[in-house]
Amino acid sequence: MATAAVVYRSSTGTTRRFAEAVAAYLTSRGIEASAASIEDRDPATLAGVDFVLLGCWTSGLFVIAQHPEEAWVSWAGKLPDLRGARVALFTTYKLATGSMFRRMRRELARTGATVDLELKSRSGQLSAEHQRQLDAWVAARPRA
Ligand SMILES: Cc1cc2nc3c(=O)[nH]c(=O)nc-3n(C[C@H](O)[C@H](O)[C@H](O)COP(=O)(O)O)c2cc1C
Repeated sequence: MATAAVVYRSSTGTTRRFAEAVAAYLTSRGIEASAASIEDRDPATLAGVDFVLLGCWTSGLFVIAQHPEEAWVSWAGKLPDLRGARVALFTTYKLATGSMFRRMRRELARTGATVDLELKSRSGQLSAEHQRQLDAWVAARPRA
């Protein structure tokens, strides 16, 4: 059975709800998936996981300078080599995600991860479009 880890940083619960919905959806698709906050998941335990989905709420000046919270950056800095995993990013926001995903990717560069999915949500609910994106992502041929 393929494994998935959905790990998030949430301040007021929106990103946590989204992460839990993603994990539940992946479970419904036959993947052994779990969601945990960065406080509860040691980054080293992501070694060997097939699908790694990393999320953080969008922090910034609402129209510019969006970035992951420092706690997420610090956690991501301890991630293992992720070249063998499929890696996705997600965020929740109110107005615009702007530079958010670019900044998150920058923090992952050291891990060798190739990020091939970005999901964003205002409400924290998993929409039909999110489900379609996840289905296509999971079905895509893994990188050699
Ligand atoms: C200090 C602060 C800065 C924020 N900056 C942005 C922003 O730049 N762009 C945006 O779209 N939303 C911004 N938001 C809204 C949050 O990203 C949004 O409410 C998010 O869903 C919160 O996630 P959480 O409930 O998991 O903490 C900001 C919220 C706060 C509290």
